[in-house]
Amino acid sequence: MCGIVGYVGHRGALPVLINGLKHLEYRGYDSAGVLTLHNSVFEGEKKVGKIALLEQAFQHWQPAGTLGIGHTRWATHGPPSHANAHPHLSADESVAIVHNGILENYLELRHELAQAGVELRSETDSEMIAHFLQWEREAGHDLIAALQRLVPRFEGSWGLLAVARDEPHRIVAARKDSPMIVGLGENETFLASDVPAILEYTRRVIYLEEGDIVDANPSDVRILDREGREVERSVHEIQWSLEKAQKGGEPHFMRKEIKEQPQVLADTIHAYLRFDDTGVGRINFPDLTLADATLQSFDRVVIAACGTAWHAGLVAKYLIEEFARLPVECQLASELRYAEPIITPNTLVIAVTQSGETEDTKKALIRMRELGATAVCVCNVLGSSIPRECEGVIYTVAGPEIAVASTKAYTTQVAVLTLFAIHLGRVRGTLEEERASALLRELDELPAVVRETLGCDAQVEEVAKYCSFAPNFMYLGRHVHFPTALEGALKLKEITYIHAEGYPAGEMKHGPIALVDNTFPVVAMLTKGRVLSKVMSNLKEIEARNGIIIAVKTKGLEVNGAVQYTIEIPETSEALSPIVAAIPMQLLAYHVSVNRQIDPDKPRNLAKSVTVE
Ligand code: AGP
Repeated sequence: MCGIVGYVGHRGALPVLINGLKHLEYRGYDSAGVLTLHNSVFEGEKKVGKIALLEQAFQHWQPAGTLGIGHTRWATHGPPSHANAHPHLSADESVAIVHNGILENYLELRHELAQAGVELRSETDSEMIAHFLQWEREAGHDLIAALQRLVPRFEGSWGLLAVARDEPHRIVAARKDSPMIVGLGENETFLASDVPAILEYTRRVIYLEEGDIVDANPSDVRILDREGREVERSVHEIQWSLEKAQKGGEPHFMRKEIKEQPQVLADTIHAYLRFDDTGVGRINFPDLTLADATLQSFDRVVIAACGTAWHAGLVAKYLIEEFARLPVECQLASELRYAEPIITPNTLVIAVTQSGETEDTKKALIRMRELGATAVCVCNVLGSSIPRECEGVIYTVAGPEIAVASTKAYTTQVAVLTLFAIHLGRVRGTLEEERASALLRELDELPAVVRETLGCDAQVEEVAKYCSFAPNFMYLGRHVHFPTALEGALKLKEITYIHAEGYPAGEMKHGPIALVDNTFPVVAMLTKGRVLSKVMSNLKEIEARNGIIIAVKTKGLEVNGAVQYTIEIPETSEALSPIVAAIPMQLLAYHVSVNRQIDPDKPRNLAKSVTVE
């Protein structure tokens, strides 16, 4: 997620912008820029890298001006570069903007500008906003009218600020899906993507609502709702510390990121899935660059990943084999590097990685390419190393994941891999269109289902009270929930230091059931699908040995008396259930960690990105 700061008031804008962006650094970014307006001239700087580099640029000159905008960029369209960094200027440099979000219809907008001969200076979708605002102002509209006329043409998400060099006391803003707040000072107004940016100056904050447009000057803020009506929004007195504000009011980044999943899943799914006028779901991976004929030529898929990313790859194994009828091997990258896999030019290797920097995954991928495979990756960080080693990339749009334990990265990885499996099945003619369309419609609605699933938090918190000090856990799942069991066990191990095993439920009777007794919580995945009755009978075996069963089950599903604790999740089709079932897994690990007085954001011995072998 990008960071945004805007200021109009009596102070010099530059330090307000720089301080504000520094308080947003925790959000993760790859470039930063600021711009102020003084005597109808925009002045500023943009730098790739940390804000400290930007600060150095102002050692010997500070642009004057009491109005300005600033931005830290988390790249989604176009890699980190000076040209792609915000703020962006219109062609005639009369308007400047900063933007957080994704314009999903950026191709048609870009085409319109190209038709008019506008030379874009960057690869971003955001820059286009400045050009269109210039056009509206040339048509005689002032900045707020220009923004009101322009916003209905956008599809996607935005938190944006705009300033015009001939309107020196005005900042306008618009928000949809990307948070934006207004800070109210004494004869000064602040706008930002998040509270931490402005806490140093004011604690009086308005949280803008979906579709709001703001017309701000130092002493007055007008807010217009999505119908253009002027509305009053509540002013909140923020009581949080700066640190708590950076977590969105949550106690930990992990909890904040668990709760971000509905939004980042929507951002990720809608980046690649759009429905045409006939209601048919169209999948487009702009950075994949593999023609249909190439996808049809593959006779085998090898997935290489580590940790949570490997679990996402395991889900993809089941789905690609079912939808695309291709054999899939999902290998731990650290093992694949030293194995002697059978790789041919018809092998597709998919690296799955949140950070794009995991050494084991990178080295495995390089070796597979040396053996002749075609390599693509699923990654969350534009400009990271592993995408540069691939012929194609599918980016997740999870935003920076700060907590060491991966949550939103996992569910967005599974979402894009599900989309890819459906795409492969369509291209190879092995997935009936009726099923593909039904899955895509369900995927389109999945963020709302995940939001509903977050409602199980209270149930999970109750369950965590009873098992936070158990010495061991077992997680059981079959088929697409075998990876869910592995992921649940890993989450628990990582942030509670309790030993936990993820196991195929059908394997219990082949040995591990000897472990079961009444000190041994067993978390079982009981969701509707082809293996439900089998898992039910596995639980009978555990009940007979006094095991403690915690069932993550489809809402309304009757379970036999064997289950001591239940956590209910909404019904989905089997193929999409791993995304939903991940939520209670994450929450259980989180609550147990907190009950054990461990900081779930910074577990011992772990790093967010393992760049060593
Ligand atoms: C997940 O909770 C862990 N932090 C870890 O297993 C992680 O998934 C693994 O190190 C892979 O990282 P990557 O996705 O950045 O490649």
